[in-house]
Amino acid sequence: MKHETIEKNLGLMIVLIIFAISGGFLTEVVPLFFLKQTNEPVEGLEPLSALELEGRDIYIREGCHVCHTQQIRPFRAETERYGHYSVAGEFVYDRPFLWGSKRTGPDLARVGQRYSDAWHRQHLFNPRSVVPESNMPAFPWLFENRVDHESIAARMKTLQTLGVPYTDEQIANAESEIKGKFEIEALVAYLQQLGTVISEKR
Ligand code: HEC
Repeated sequence: MKHETIEKNLGLMIVLIIFAISGGFLTEVVPLFFLKQTNEPVEGLEPLSALELEGRDIYIREGCHVCHTQQIRPFRAETERYGHYSVAGEFVYDRPFLWGSKRTGPDLARVGQRYSDAWHRQHLFNPRSVVPESNMPAFPWLFENRVDHESIAARMKTLQTLGVPYTDEQIANAESEIKGKFEIEALVAYLQQLGTVISEKR
């Protein structure tokens, strides 16, 4: 009988739905902001260098995250193949996260240092030349385009505002650090550090 009263009263129903959902939010989401485990960087985690950050922006621009995830789940099948499962503290400087949801290609969370720079360059220039059955697209323009050195300081400054611990000196040096480099150098630098903060200690 009481249930019927609620179901037939739209206003009351809305209020109760909002109440139920905010209850869920308060107990499930809010504590995450205060848990050390989820918002403290893992030991040794450093913000990306100017070149690596540029590489990350190229990674986003080229849509690499559409085919590649960056999150290893804590299952045997995943850890045997990719290495230590991902932990929240590895991603505290990642804005936005690039966890992804679709694996057309393998997970890249710990691909850093697994291949040589030369392998990555060859693979990105023409994936089929190193993995014959690959259906990954080629990215030859990365070898012709220079990095965007003009906006790097502004991008680092924005991240600094959001809490990434860049020093003012790092930001001031960023432009001259990457000026004139090719996009491929930035992207490979980014790939080579992925996940290394934990896999080094394994
Ligand atoms: C259309 C989907 C697709 C896109 C987009 C894509 N990849 Fe891939 N990638 C794959 C597939 C499939 C493989 C597995 C075959 C191979 O190694 O080429 C792969 C493999 C890789 C590997 C080797 C991983 C390993 O553990 O062996 C790396 C590194 C990689 N991709 C980086 C990139 C980067 C960087 C970009 C963006 C510039 C990118 N991929 C874009 C599909 C994609």
